[in-house]
Amino acid sequence: MRIIKVNATDSTNSFLREMYRENPATQNLCLSAYEQTKGRGQKGTLWQCEAGKNLTSSLLLTRLKLGVKQQFKLSAMVSLTVLEVLEKLSIPNLKIKWPNDILADNFKIGGILIENFLKGDKIHASIIGIGLNVNQEKFDNLPKAGSLQMLTGKNYDLERLLETLADSIEKKFSLLNDFSMEDVLKDYHHNLFAIHKVSTFQLPSGKRFSGILRGIDEDGRLEVLTEANGLEKFEVKQIKLLY
Ligand code: BTN
Repeated sequence: MRIIKVNATDSTNSFLREMYRENPATQNLCLSAYEQTKGRGQKGTLWQCEAGKNLTSSLLLTRLKLGVKQQFKLSAMVSLTVLEVLEKLSIPNLKIKWPNDILADNFKIGGILIENFLKGDKIHASIIGIGLNVNQEKFDNLPKAGSLQMLTGKNYDLERLLETLADSIEKKFSLLNDFSMEDVLKDYHHNLFAIHKVSTFQLPSGKRFSGILRGIDEDGRLEVLTEANGLEKFEVKQIKLLY
């Protein structure tokens, strides 16, 4: 895949979004920044990391012919592909924390921000933003953040890692329809952090409760079993899994 590198941009996702809006004929492309000045995380958070030591990159995948119902499948397949690439580097104890945080040894080493362009009931393009902590040695005031370097003591070639990630994701997308939702969910559950465990959840009101994480349904909703209410389903915006 064609990779463009820039020194600094506010957010690689925002950059590609503007680019695609202005020119919908754009072909698949990956944009990687040495530094982001306003990196965006999920739920309106900021994504911050040390310049030049990590991957802050986005892939623009165009000419897609996917149904909107496939949004979670797409998201799950991206997380699973990132895990596959990291598994080949022998990164320990890799897990996906719903919906698509990448954990290793319980540290968050990566985050994914997917923004789809929808028209009617179709996804015609997708921007997949990946923040992967690679060679950063410490994260001040972020006790749950980690990097590949911190876990293995090794230094990684960022360029090679990005090429592998971008090519693997592009390839997976071209095969998306070859995988059944059932198989993707099976694989996702197999790698899901805290599945079948009693965990603490937090509602947007701040109220906390404990329950068992039973799994994820085909639309990407979290299924939690509680004593009080039985099995309940939550959208990403409706709940947070604390850990
Ligand atoms: C999360 O909150 O876990 C998602 C973080 C996603 C960060 C990446 S870095 C590259 C791309 N550009 C952005 O502004 N965000 C994503």
